[in-house]
Amino acid sequence: MIFSKRSFSVIILLMPAAWMVVGMSACKKDKDQIDVVEIERKPTLPQTSFNYSQIDLPDHFSSGVLSFFESIPTSNPTTDAGATLGRVLFYDTELSADHTVSCASCHHQTNAFAANTALSEGIGGASTVRNSMALFNLRYSRRFFWDRRTNGLEAQVLIPIEHPDEQALDLDNAVERISSISYYPPLFEAAFGDAAVTSDRISKALSQFIRSMLSYRSKYDSGLANNFVDFTEQELLGKDLFFNGETRCNQCHMTALFYTPGSMNNGLEYPYTDLGVGAVTGNASDNGKFKVVTLRNLSYTAPYMHDGRFATLEEVVNHYNGNIVQQANLDDRLTVGFVPGGTPIDPGLGEAEVAALVSFLRTLDDVFFVSDDKYSDPF
Ligand code: HEC
Ligand code: HEC
Repeated sequence: MIFSKRSFSVIILLMPAAWMVVGMSACKKDKDQIDVVEIERKPTLPQTSFNYSQIDLPDHFSSGVLSFFESIPTSNPTTDAGATLGRVLFYDTELSADHTVSCASCHHQTNAFAANTALSEGIGGASTVRNSMALFNLRYSRRFFWDRRTNGLEAQVLIPIEHPDEQALDLDNAVERISSISYYPPLFEAAFGDAAVTSDRISKALSQFIRSMLSYRSKYDSGLANNFVDFTEQELLGKDLFFNGETRCNQCHMTALFYTPGSMNNGLEYPYTDLGVGAVTGNASDNGKFKVVTLRNLSYTAPYMHDGRFATLEEVVNHYNGNIVQQANLDDRLTVGFVPGGTPIDPGLGEAEVAALVSFLRTLDDVFFVSDDKYSDPF
């Protein structure tokens, strides 16, 4: 039987509420007398596949430096069938040792695939060490996690499956499990030409789905095309503050992605509770450095920073507005006169300017992305 470990008593589900308690205690006492029916939780997929592979990106995505950031291995181009399989795997709790955790447990579409809590819970209620990260526009990323320790998305996506505190399923068991589920053979066949399940194919399909997650339909994106005619006075002021050099925001959160492929120290704390990149490289000069993450979709991804320390965007701006902590590793883009480890800058923004900067950041929200059916839970 495919779902031997997951039996649901249909009788209990159909029983009137008043009988529930009796029914449940009977279930505990004498399992054999209850008529247990196996239910398969199956994905519902569209007749014609969603379009994952032919996305018409705006010019500011397809040109210039972003094509240089782009990282899509020739051995794993995104196809509609591959990303469809990836979507099912992403949402499937069968991909965890106790059948309860999927990627989507910690990466919610309504939160732009981050989580709305500082830390997330994996298998058995185990807590993650850091804040769950938003997942979009990652086809422009080569290194993953807050400390950028993993090279390549194909390697990254297998890590949470095996991680003892996340999905806790070693890859041999994952392959065996997925092979035994009735809805997978046709999906693997459509994606890869035959129904064989391998960890390499699981990794490729998940990567294709994640590479297909693109966020490019914000008010800011329309603004680039129409010279920001729709922007309010406040948003225009915020935009100016972001780019004018005084706040230095755009020196690290760069390009149309508001991201840089690197890690930096933005002066959150000293001494450190998390060494970040320094714990990976063992170099003291890397302590307190973390991935420079995107600023798109911030309205959906609170709380902020690697430890989820800030609940609101006002708190984030307040950090950069006179509360940067001086330390030897502080990035020179945040020091007076660009002196490494020097005195932190203080742009001295007033209340109205803080509000304007926040309102500009919210123009980077992409409501189409967080509500697009093609990224939604198929189960
Ligand atoms: C228990 C919660 C949890 C589960 C389950 C989980 N993740 Fe994550 N994910 C996180 C956390 C926390 C981080 C950041 C960890 C760190 O930096 O050390 C992260 C980071 C990532 C990143 C890196 C993003 C970047 O910008 O560098 C990717 C990609 C990702 N997860 C994909 C997945 C996939 C695919 C799955 C399912 C196979 C998955 N995650 C399952 C919590 C989770
Ligand atoms: C020296 C480079 C640098 C500069 C300048 C900079 N940042 Fe950052 N920013 C970072 C890094 C690195 C992180 C991640 C830090 C962490 O989590 O430990 C970050 C994180 C953030 C986050 C949290 C994102 C999330 O998903 O959690 C926001 C919001 C943010 N920055 C906004 C701004 C704004 C607004 C400015 C200008 C006032 C600015 N940044 C200037 C490097 C920089």
